[in-house]
Amino acid sequence: MRYAYVNGHYCRHGDAAVHVEDRGFQFADAVYEVWGVRYGGLLDAEGHFQRLARSLQELRIEPPCTRPALMRIITELLRRNRVRHGLVYLQISRGQARRDHAFPKKPVPPTIVLTCKRLDFAAADTRAEHGIAVITVPDQRWGRCDIKTVNLLPNVLAKQAAQDAGATEAWLVDDNGYVTEGSSTNAWIVTKAGKLVTRQADNAILHGITRARIFECAQSLGLEVEERAFTPQEAATAREAFLTSATSFVMPVVAIDDKTIANGKPGSLATSLRQTYLSQVYVSGPASHAK
Ligand code: PDD
Repeated sequence: MRYAYVNGHYCRHGDAAVHVEDRGFQFADAVYEVWGVRYGGLLDAEGHFQRLARSLQELRIEPPCTRPALMRIITELLRRNRVRHGLVYLQISRGQARRDHAFPKKPVPPTIVLTCKRLDFAAADTRAEHGIAVITVPDQRWGRCDIKTVNLLPNVLAKQAAQDAGATEAWLVDDNGYVTEGSSTNAWIVTKAGKLVTRQADNAILHGITRARIFECAQSLGLEVEERAFTPQEAATAREAFLTSATSFVMPVVAIDDKTIANGKPGSLATSLRQTYLSQVYVSGPASHAK
């Protein structure tokens, strides 16, 4: 049986529910986090907790519980669902209130929901051996993409457009013609000189926890990282391209808008970075049930 956690209770996944006037449901007035899970442990737990705290603060939503309490909930949820490899999803909304755009005058308790699911990382490894294709679409999102809100409609439409085109991810392009990031991943290229390039962590992108970790991996491999915007044209003629996220780790990109990147095979640096990431990423104490 699958379990979810909703406002203090573990319940059957199929019965888990929030109120029809939850502000997350009505206004996307909510933030979320996603942790990768390997061997029963959370990847980069601390980084995701810190980003969650920042997202909540930016939207002026009170944290519904302390970090240790949240960690206990996550551990219990993984145990109940017997998830060893997969992800944990957390969503916190401003809570339930009579529908009015402005914040509730009398503060209401935030709604907290957690779910988890298994992922087949062996299949992802195989995908990484072949690389994936991306398409580009206009970035139609709002001006605070650095906050991890559930306001994801443009991302949803972009990902669907990618799938409709037979690709895996959509890279979003801003009004100046530069790639911001993927619909649910950060975007990277490798220049002919072997330098890694990824967009600066401004308000136009989510400051990926995996992205930050890749800076450290690059350093340990003696690679230089340049934070600047790049165009789809530069990506198409780059030596390599790849994307990063909590659940795809480092995924080589071998085509962009039907243009093959380099020889159409995963680049050696992306492949090394994937291995280095998986060996260096901090896994918070794998739960004993998962060993
Ligand atoms: N997505 N950019 C966007 C828009 C994202 O939604 C994500 C994460 C990332 C990568 O961030 P991180 O390395 O911290 O996972 C970049 C998650 C996995 C999701 O929405 O499922």
